[in-house]
Amino acid sequence: MVKNMSTTKPMFKFVTLLVLISFFISVMCSESLINDGGGGSDDEDLESLEELLAIDEEEEDKQQGIHIKSSEADTLRKAQRIVLELSNERVKSVIDGNEFVLLLGYAPWCGRSAELMPQFAEAATILKEMGSPVLMAKVDADRYPKAASLLGIKGYPTLLLFVNGTSQMYTGGLTANDIVVWVMKKTGVPLIRLDTLSDAEKFMAKHQMFVIGLFDKFEGSNYEEFTKAAVADNEIQFAETSKTEVAKVLFPDNENKKPFVGLVKSEPEKYLAFEDTFEKEKILEFLEYNKFPLVTVMTELNSVRVHTGPVKLQVIVFAKDEEFKNHLLPLQNVARKFKSKIMFIYVDVAEENLAKPFLTLFGLEESDKTVVTAFDNRKSSKYLLESNLTPSNLEAFCSGLLHDTLSPYFKSQPLPENLQKEATVQTVVGRTFEDLVLNSPQNVLLEVHTPWCINCEATTKQVEKLAKHFKGLDNLIIARIDASANEHPKLQVEDFPTLVFYPSGDKSNPIKLPTKSSLKDLAAFIKKNVRTDRGITSQDETSKDEL
Ligand SMILES: *[C@@H]1O[C@H](CO)[C@@H](O)[C@H](O)[C@H]1NC(C)=O
Repeated sequence: MVKNMSTTKPMFKFVTLLVLISFFISVMCSESLINDGGGGSDDEDLESLEELLAIDEEEEDKQQGIHIKSSEADTLRKAQRIVLELSNERVKSVIDGNEFVLLLGYAPWCGRSAELMPQFAEAATILKEMGSPVLMAKVDADRYPKAASLLGIKGYPTLLLFVNGTSQMYTGGLTANDIVVWVMKKTGVPLIRLDTLSDAEKFMAKHQMFVIGLFDKFEGSNYEEFTKAAVADNEIQFAETSKTEVAKVLFPDNENKKPFVGLVKSEPEKYLAFEDTFEKEKILEFLEYNKFPLVTVMTELNSVRVHTGPVKLQVIVFAKDEEFKNHLLPLQNVARKFKSKIMFIYVDVAEENLAKPFLTLFGLEESDKTVVTAFDNRKSSKYLLESNLTPSNLEAFCSGLLHDTLSPYFKSQPLPENLQKEATVQTVVGRTFEDLVLNSPQNVLLEVHTPWCINCEATTKQVEKLAKHFKGLDNLIIARIDASANEHPKLQVEDFPTLVFYPSGDKSNPIKLPTKSSLKDLAAFIKKNVRTDRGITSQDETSKDEL
């Protein structure tokens, strides 16, 4: 369930477009449990379950959506055996009888559970090899609703750590490695001490991302702040050493600084030195801003934390896998220039659940080209790179995003062909709304319609008559916009048709006109609100009869 998976910060601290989207993506399996009172097969013990598993293993793998090669399947099955499957009966004794239990509440039909289960099983294997005291258990919340409600499981997947019977929410990442790191931290091993070169080599073989601290002695306030950060951080493995030559292997870029803290990642932007004062909060902030790779590949497992990260400017690239490969290097080069200011994300368009909600915002859900979008998550505005994806265009786009000089993207039809100087009713589209309606010096009467609305035609006729009648009045524009294909944040209309009048001196206070108004009423309204003394010509007199 989302809240358990995300950071400890409140989910809706920033209620933004992106957070809402990620919420939408992630709550697919948080349906509430229906029958709390029993149901399911209560009394199966572990043996019979294992028999069941043995028979149905392959079938179950398929059902869980785990598409794996058979050699991997063997490993996975072994790993899943390490995870204790709990039934209604066993839950209480297992939770109460063990110092540390990491429990996964899942439902077999939930895609997100299915993705997490092999990671969970792999983590169980690694933890067991490491001699961790934690017991890894899972409960099928659908089959054992009593157990689920006893444990407080309301959605899937839910991860909880029980320490001497008291539960806390899981706040780490969702890969096997993330789980291992988090569990080690929360069960008493926040740091790994490396004394020899071979310790360092072994450590590096295991950890793709880590923090290394180099200290003369493992004491003093600098060191204490470092350990506090190691405990508080939820994702990254911390290591410490007092030997310069060991630190050199882990972080070759260090110019003999001591004490020293550095972040190491497995990608082009590999080494990052912490350069602030040694305070827990500052170390944590440094990690928050720098832990993501130059370009983050969005997955179901990381989508929530990608959106709730501290970097509020995001560039998201939607492409097919093979195209993305060509773009990765140039993308990383640009990303490096905007490091910790803009987050770069890639979404594989084949992942429809991830890609579609975003692309729909741009009306591009059917596009088969690479799409580059950007979001300013502080003010919920969205942008589209409309030029070709070249390094220089991308860099200019990012620079505009950073300096807030990009024009926000609104769904818009193309600009109307001739600028309709002649037409009596002007066509406004999303991207001309600002100029023609809000920023023009004239009064504007705008007809907002959609192709399918029932009464639009009658209103359109009325508007055309009005336009003819007031033709030549140079302080009045009569215009029309198709709201199904055009949008603008200042155009908030829900019913169609709607007639909106924007007074020239006060564009921010438009007046909605009753659509049932007669032509006479509308004309009278315009006369009253538009200074007609100067512009009305003899044409006014002649066309008056038509009204
Ligand atoms: C759990 O309880 C045992 C027995 O009371 C105690 O020795 C142990 O320190 C407790 N563990 C934690 C992490 O509090």
